[in-house]
Amino acid sequence: MAASGSQPLLAVRDLVKVYPDGTVALNGVSLDFMAGEVHVLLGENGAGKTTLARIIYGEIRPTSGEVIYEGRRVLFRGPWEAIRAGIRMIYQHFSLVGGFTVADNIALYGSRLGLSRREALEAARRLAEEYGFRIPFDARVSDLPAGIQQRVEIVKALLVEPRVLILDEPTSLVSPLDVEALFRVIRGLREKGVAILYITHKLREVGVIGDRVTVMRRGRVVATLPAKKATVDQLARLMIGERRLPEEPRIAAAGAAGERGAALRVENLRVVREGFEAVRGVSLEVRPGEILGVTGVAGNGQDELVEAIVGVLPVAGGRITLLGRDVTREPTWVRYRLGLAYLPGSRKLSLVQEMNALENLALGLLGAGKLRGPFIDWGWVAKLLVKYVEELGVVMHSPYAPVKHLSGGNQQKLALARILAVEPRVLVAVDPTHGLDIATTRIVHSILAEMRSRGMAILLVSSDLDEVLQLSDRVAVMNSGRIVSIKKPHEYTLEELGRLMGGAA
Ligand SMILES: Nc1ncnc2c1ncn2[C@@H]1O[C@H](COP(=O)(O)OP(=O)(O)OP(=O)(O)O)[C@@H](O)[C@H]1O
Ligand SMILES: [Mg+2]
Repeated sequence: MAASGSQPLLAVRDLVKVYPDGTVALNGVSLDFMAGEVHVLLGENGAGKTTLARIIYGEIRPTSGEVIYEGRRVLFRGPWEAIRAGIRMIYQHFSLVGGFTVADNIALYGSRLGLSRREALEAARRLAEEYGFRIPFDARVSDLPAGIQQRVEIVKALLVEPRVLILDEPTSLVSPLDVEALFRVIRGLREKGVAILYITHKLREVGVIGDRVTVMRRGRVVATLPAKKATVDQLARLMIGERRLPEEPRIAAAGAAGERGAALRVENLRVVREGFEAVRGVSLEVRPGEILGVTGVAGNGQDELVEAIVGVLPVAGGRITLLGRDVTREPTWVRYRLGLAYLPGSRKLSLVQEMNALENLALGLLGAGKLRGPFIDWGWVAKLLVKYVEELGVVMHSPYAPVKHLSGGNQQKLALARILAVEPRVLVAVDPTHGLDIATTRIVHSILAEMRSRGMAILLVSSDLDEVLQLSDRVAVMNSGRIVSIKKPHEYTLEELGRLMGGAA
């Protein structure tokens, strides 16, 4: 739908944001947001998208420049001022109180908007009905899967109708059915004249949900175009500038892999966490040179399956065999020495943030038994580091700086470098490209494909369906602690996957 009227509902002018450590996140950004328009914001990791959103939302202050809302210059002193003025933001990481029920969360938020508990809950029920959301108002938020939590967030944000809605990567951890539901809501709000700022890394969403799209690069606006006409290639090129966009790897159909025995075998595995049976009899096999994808809506037992395989969570029943050896009761370090590597979903867990790149690499080598103390051959570690940093294109100023100073993409590449250096035989990778931009995502995909062709057995657990379908030789779908289907990627239709993953919407 075209913008109604020519005056923007919201605008930013010459925004500059320099963080205390000197990072220039925004370098003179001016943009208009029209009522009744979905304005998509794209850009590589670190381009400044979230910084822009947080300034509009009153969470942080610009170094200079202004925000103009309903024709007036505003400077919100905190999100609540923005919220009361009609601006709402939905984060990728939800801001619900986990220990509270859904109803309590909604009542709490409503009270800050001047609604009584009854009014807030009535409004929430009305919205849930309008959008066809089944929301368990009496359930504890921490017990709910991501997709349902997001619906609660949406309802919360809409309790009192907003004029501006900001969504920062709202689709990265939810199922296709949840994405459908979200898009229905967004279209409904657009009809009502709400201005929507939609931040994403998924280029395919641009044409589906967007009216206009703005591409940012390094704190500046590169271009704003009509969303329906922009092609994925064109947008990718605008995002990365002069650099070449890496190719997506092509995974040839599994060939010889089938003839060799399993590198990792899980039989009838049961895992209980906090009294709840999260994994209910899972069996699977990953062979050398094979990627087995496991997908599902977050919270259906994938985390517990992974943690049991790497030895972080105890097993309640069943068996785990690694390279022919029963490791069901073995501690984590024994599994690592045998040739297992783990790339956790949270980047913060994969590297020791306070340590530098060299120390992190040495730690990985020590863990796998490839390096012995107490006297570490730092020269050898440095040589390995240089080799992989070059191979993977990690950008870092110094091998001696703590890794927390690296961007998300570079941290992920370094984590993969550490795994390559260790030469494991089995890799368990969780959401390896979550939150990474398109160029870095493709590099990570190529690295995984390369590891596979070197004969590594890879268990790829990811909530990104495109990723799983593209990289895996076989795809398993998890729901309620069970594997409900294992097939080759092309044997699934998207509708079928959605059904298997989510159950009813
Ligand atoms: N609190 C902070 N202190 C210092 N630097 C920061 C802070 N927050 C963000 N930055 C830096 O500012 C730049 C822009 O970050 P921002 O989070 O806005 O990017 P983004 O486009 O949202 O990236 P992504 O796609 O990874 O979410 C980055 O270089 C980032 O490292
Ligand atoms: Mg961001």
